[in-house]
Amino acid sequence: MLEELIKVNGKFSELARKRFSCRTFDGNGVSEEKLNLVKKQIEKANESSENFRAGIVNKHELKAKKFFTTGTYGMFKGDKFYIVGTLKKESEFDWVKYGFFMENIIIYLTQIGLNTCWIGGVFDRKGFGGELGIREDELIPAIIPFGYCASKRTLRDRIVRWSAKGDKRKPFDELFFINEIPANISETKLKEVLENVRIAPSASNKQPWRFFIHKDRIDIYLRRDKLYSKLIPSSDLQMIDMGIASYHLWKSFLEIGMSGNWNLLKNKKSFPALQYIVSFIF
Ligand SMILES: Cc1cc2nc3c(=O)[nH]c(=O)nc-3n(C[C@H](O)[C@H](O)[C@H](O)COP(=O)(O)O)c2cc1C
Repeated sequence: MLEELIKVNGKFSELARKRFSCRTFDGNGVSEEKLNLVKKQIEKANESSENFRAGIVNKHELKAKKFFTTGTYGMFKGDKFYIVGTLKKESEFDWVKYGFFMENIIIYLTQIGLNTCWIGGVFDRKGFGGELGIREDELIPAIIPFGYCASKRTLRDRIVRWSAKGDKRKPFDELFFINEIPANISETKLKEVLENVRIAPSASNKQPWRFFIHKDRIDIYLRRDKLYSKLIPSSDLQMIDMGIASYHLWKSFLEIGMSGNWNLLKNKKSFPALQYIVSFIF
């Protein structure tokens, strides 16, 4: 799946810090030139991808066709263009890959100066799906509005951000468990990499990822919030979160010249509170 990703040129650690969830856009959309750039990159990513597809939807066209919907029920303001990401789900792990695929698009949009927000909660899935010509075997787990953030946030935006504690993250020791420092990396560098993972976005900022660091690999587990999973039964947002954090981990190691492979280790057990997802092998 790595070959279907859009190439991101900037420094990942800087881009990861630049990204934040924008819910109040300036209402001006984006220039034709930039829109074409995004379209071209997405088409390229679609070509090499079997289970995922992304497309651009103009919310005003959606609204014109569907009189009673604004697409996101007024949670966002000034939003005009959306990336709509579809998934043809064949296994549970496809949710993880979907998060990886879509976060790559978000980081690319960040690189070209655009603001974004993941939306996996409530939105008009049927309306957005119709615009993209969604097939019967495809789902729309998430959409991403993109454009430029307004200088002043709406009250609603401030409330959503405050309730999700959007600027905060769990303490390092609650997310990362270092058994041994991997070869060829200092403890300081390792912590810098993990910090890029800690700032990844997650649904309702729940940060369900847990990382167990060993000399030769990192085992990644999901600490699921069962009640939360029931809220949006059609999408497994917390599995998508796992893909997003994995993308941050992979890009951060690449930035310091350390590559690795993704592997599903056979001998890994899940525990009642922790579900094994995947390992990153150095
Ligand atoms: C899979 C996923 C789904 C999300 N769904 C929504 C959503 O439906 N509405 C919303 O306002 N924010 C949504 N968010 C954004 C999170 O609330 C946000 O990433 C988190 O609070 C951290 O804030 P930050 O992105 O500004 O760092 C979603 C994020 C993820 C990763």
